[in-house]
Amino acid sequence: MHKKLFIPGPTEVRKEVLDAQTKPLIGHRMSSFTELYTGIIKKLKELLDTENFITVLTASGTALMEAAIRNCVKENVLCCVSGAFGDRWYKIAQKCDKNADAVTVEWGKSIKPEMIEEKLKAKNYEAVTVVQNETSTGVRAPIEEIGALLKKYPDTLFLVDTVSSLMGDKIDITGCNIDVCLTSSQKAFALPPGLAVGIINDKALEKAKGVSGRGHYADFVGLKDYFDKKGQTPTTPAITLMYALNTQLDRIKQEGMENRYQRHLKMAQYVREWAKNNFTLFAEPGYESVTVTCIKNTKNINVAGLNKELGKRGFAISNGYGKLKEQTFRIAHMGDITLDEIQELINNINEILGL
Ligand SMILES: Cc1ncc(COP(=O)(O)O)c(C=O)c1O
Repeated sequence: MHKKLFIPGPTEVRKEVLDAQTKPLIGHRMSSFTELYTGIIKKLKELLDTENFITVLTASGTALMEAAIRNCVKENVLCCVSGAFGDRWYKIAQKCDKNADAVTVEWGKSIKPEMIEEKLKAKNYEAVTVVQNETSTGVRAPIEEIGALLKKYPDTLFLVDTVSSLMGDKIDITGCNIDVCLTSSQKAFALPPGLAVGIINDKALEKAKGVSGRGHYADFVGLKDYFDKKGQTPTTPAITLMYALNTQLDRIKQEGMENRYQRHLKMAQYVREWAKNNFTLFAEPGYESVTVTCIKNTKNINVAGLNKELGKRGFAISNGYGKLKEQTFRIAHMGDITLDEIQELINNINEILGL
């Protein structure tokens, strides 16, 4: 039996989108691919309301986390760490031989702009990394306020991971002063895994031109040059996934970005209410994610056991991430999942747990 995915990626992919992948292949140097890919970029720009350069890389989101560091940082980078993915970006920066400092908060808490400002006052950083939606803790970082702060530091680039939120939560890329925004296909986009989307502004591209060791595969300058000249990707892309992306962008346009955001918000509010009535939210109040709710296991339920029972009924949720296993559990409400489906899931959890 298929288990409907209420996990924070991969998420449910609708049949129409899955089916789009079964069309016969085209060559990635054919004009039909140029048409497909330039069409995708145009649709992305329209939906995300940006004129920035957009690239769709055949890779998962982590590749763009690494690329953002390699393209935008010569030496000094400040990494905000409030969970597993913030920590991953910090470690990536170190592995790329950058001089990385961290602003760290306890898991469940959010990074605050003043914590970043304190560091920026003490040292020049070329970039600050922030995970907007920390999937491991269900915490939403205040990128609006952090972006406003970074306006005072024009030499510091703002690199933002929206892997588990873009196309679900409302992200104003230009308004938040974001220089590099990155995401993966398998979360709020509701696509199969395998594509990473990078939205890169001119400031980041200019900076990249002066940074050596950008590598080849995800060199922002190379990707932009190739796109400008040919309307294609420099290396062979996952063409079948591009078909799915193209179809899904049409579906998202049909729903409307504001409606999509409101649907996510309603699902989040529903799950939060249920969680507060029966358990406790793990996220600091006021910083709750719109796409995934992390619930503190205050009733000491057997989370793995619950998931096993849910599995028999055709649903899957997530246990806590890493060290939070069994102490927390996560319900994702992202992608194309509806409020009705969330209510059905919650009803089943109530039945299993006798709530
Ligand atoms: C916030 C966040 N950042 C980065 C990643 C890594 O993305 P990927 O698995 O697509 O490389 C994830 C994956 O769950 C994530 O949730």
